[in-house]
Amino acid sequence: MNRNEIIKYLKGADTKELFAEADRVRKAFVGDSVYLRGIIEFSNYCCQDCLYCGLRRENSKITRYRMTLDEIVASAKKAVELNIPTVVLQSGEDNFYSVGDLCSVVKEIKKFNLAVTMSIGERSYDDYCKLKEAGADRYLLRFETSDEELYAKLRPGKKFSQRLQCLKWLKELKYQAGSGIMVGLPGQSMESIADDILLFKDLDLDMIGIGPFLPHPNTPLAQNKSIELDLVLKVIALTRIVTENTHIPATTAVGTLDSQGRQKALKCGANVIMPNITPTKYRKYYEIYPDKICVDEDATKCRGCVEGMILASGRKVGVGFGHSLK
Ligand code: SAM
Ligand code: SF4
Ligand code: FES
Repeated sequence: MNRNEIIKYLKGADTKELFAEADRVRKAFVGDSVYLRGIIEFSNYCCQDCLYCGLRRENSKITRYRMTLDEIVASAKKAVELNIPTVVLQSGEDNFYSVGDLCSVVKEIKKFNLAVTMSIGERSYDDYCKLKEAGADRYLLRFETSDEELYAKLRPGKKFSQRLQCLKWLKELKYQAGSGIMVGLPGQSMESIADDILLFKDLDLDMIGIGPFLPHPNTPLAQNKSIELDLVLKVIALTRIVTENTHIPATTAVGTLDSQGRQKALKCGANVIMPNITPTKYRKYYEIYPDKICVDEDATKCRGCVEGMILASGRKVGVGFGHSLK
């Protein structure tokens, strides 16, 4: 599919054929399994100031927390009990944890025979290298938008080229590399979303996370509106068609935008779900955006809930790690 065709679909109202085609491509290239990745949101401290994010350093209204290294490992152990083969360690950019601390956590978790995905933002090549040596398998780093000007506006002091450099390092170090975008950012055009989709393909990513931008009241973007679910679903569908065998989650943000959002995403290209396994007492503080789902539940509840969702969608829970298909 070329850029003009992608733009036509993004702007068009006819979704039925597009979603059906994405579902066919999903079935042909990644099958019916839906893989589980248990997310542990271990710190909400962040030294960055992204205009869209509730964890930004300038948000003084948020209660900050950090999990201890033992608590992170204990949460990963819970994943084993719940038969969730991958954990995702996510946080703000929090330099409180040295790379040595994080490596020791990864090493402990690897003893449980889990796949480990890191999602801790931009770090040095050396840090990425050490984490890989400690056993981390995958890394998620969304490029957020490929519109360089918009990127620079939304992430003060940061450059799109640095983000791409990090992604290139991660690939060079043989991580299974994931990236992604938010859909509905203020100032984002359909043309730039088409470029994002083509960049996914160019980067030859293993995983691609696509979620709506959800305005947070304590950020400079508070006055913006949330977008329509259909646009997010169209981006997921087009990404599936263009990239074929990547892992694409039905994100928590899409489930927050619409109570049936994740189920709908599974029907137009998604093949991954990320149940939250963060200890319940911390969940409400990891408020990237408002009204986030699963804040009052615990790991067991979320695990059961996603399994029900997968089976009700006529799919099956993935067995094994669900590593990259590339
Ligand atoms: N700090 C790391 C980073 O930025 O890569 C990882 C954690 S960050 C909270 C994870 C993702 O949350 C970001 O990549 C961004 O796409 C998403 N995010 C942040 N603010 C959001 C918002 N208001 N609505 C939807 N998604 C948001
Ligand atoms: Fe920090 Fe990531 Fe939020 Fe930006 S998106 S403020 S880097 S947690
Ligand atoms: Fe957490 Fe549904 S996934 S309650």
